[in-house]
Amino acid sequence: MRVLGLMSGTSADGIDVALVRITGRRRHLRAKLENFCTIPYPARVRQAVLRLANANQKRVVSVAAVSQLNFLLGELFAEAAVRAARRFRVPLQSIDLIGSHGQTVYHQPSREAFAGRRVVSTLQLGEPQVIAERTEIPVVGNFRPRDMAAGGQGAPLVPFVDYLLYRHPRRGRVALNIGGIANVTVIPAGAEPEDVVAFDTGPGNMVIDAVVERLTNRRQRFDRQGALAARGQPLEPLLAQLLRHPYFRRRPPKSTGREEFGSAFVEQLLRRAGRARPADIVRTATELTVRSIAESFRRFILLQARIEEVILSGGGAKNNFLIQRLRESLPGLEFLAAGRLGVDEKAKEAFAFAVLAYRTWRREPANLPSATGARHPVVLGVTAPGRQ
Ligand SMILES: Nc1ncnc2c1ncn2[C@@H]1O[C@H](COP(=O)(O)OP(=O)(O)O)[C@@H](O)[C@H]1O
Ligand SMILES: [Mg+2]
Repeated sequence: MRVLGLMSGTSADGIDVALVRITGRRRHLRAKLENFCTIPYPARVRQAVLRLANANQKRVVSVAAVSQLNFLLGELFAEAAVRAARRFRVPLQSIDLIGSHGQTVYHQPSREAFAGRRVVSTLQLGEPQVIAERTEIPVVGNFRPRDMAAGGQGAPLVPFVDYLLYRHPRRGRVALNIGGIANVTVIPAGAEPEDVVAFDTGPGNMVIDAVVERLTNRRQRFDRQGALAARGQPLEPLLAQLLRHPYFRRRPPKSTGREEFGSAFVEQLLRRAGRARPADIVRTATELTVRSIAESFRRFILLQARIEEVILSGGGAKNNFLIQRLRESLPGLEFLAAGRLGVDEKAKEAFAFAVLAYRTWRREPANLPSATGARHPVVLGVTAPGRQ
């Protein structure tokens, strides 16, 4: 099958599109990336997404805005699919299936009191029915809720695909994706699916992006190549405070998002930084990512398994300074970009949702209970029919 994967992560920078050729059943599944691109969100859409995603229990957002954004994103994801197919020079009719992750605006994997009960919940916007109607291609969407209903965190789901791509009989590998949030998939040498451990380490680019945007009055949206951070010094006392966030101490499986490291966290960081030099503040945010990742390796990965290689993906892989600091902080590990093993670092998450959609189409489960904490494997998502 030819499957298109659509994904927008917590950075809300745009829609990643991956075209993937997939064959085989169960353990014989094979997937190959044919092409990929990113279609950026218009600035106003990104603002609307961030306004919702940064709203917590305290800030008021109307139900109308949630409903409207769901349909608007459905249109934008459909347009992204159509434009990408044109760019790749493949007819839309030659695409058999779309897997659309959508845009997460709320993710609460641990129980919270609500209306007299304690509930978990997650919400991804970008209405699959709209995408299916516009493209006339069947769409699998809403990947996360079933895993949560089965007692899992609903995340991370990419480890299933990491296992498929990176398992190795003699090398222990960690796939490290640095998106808005940073997450790891630990694949010991010769691992079976149930040996795979995965979790979010904490912020990836999200805090860096927010700080850069604020300090440059929106002239810059992110720290290109880490140039700003490279000119600064970490504010050590502030950094020590930030690293005391309880999330970093919690044992895996665990996942996080804007609920914990969004605008409220950034406001507090900026308030505590006071009149420090902007470059020092960006360096501090960068160092928060570096040290929380390195600390996760030391506490939750390297004691438990022998690891030789770290496979990098996500936009953060382009932040040279961050990667350089990470290498210094984790000596003895070999770092390589995902592209070296077949799927470009910028395409991996969209690639993953194409593969997950294929599994769902075949009625095959695709969560790894060892990664999400679910009680059992489940078939993910719901399918909107294509041409009618
Ligand atoms: N050249 C670059 N230099 C530094 N950071 C970059 C670069 N390119 C992308 N990024 C970072 O990557 C982020 C997007 O990463 P992505 O993997 O798409 O995350 P998400 O999955 O959360 O959308 C950007 O917001 C930015 O912080
Ligand atoms: Mg992105």
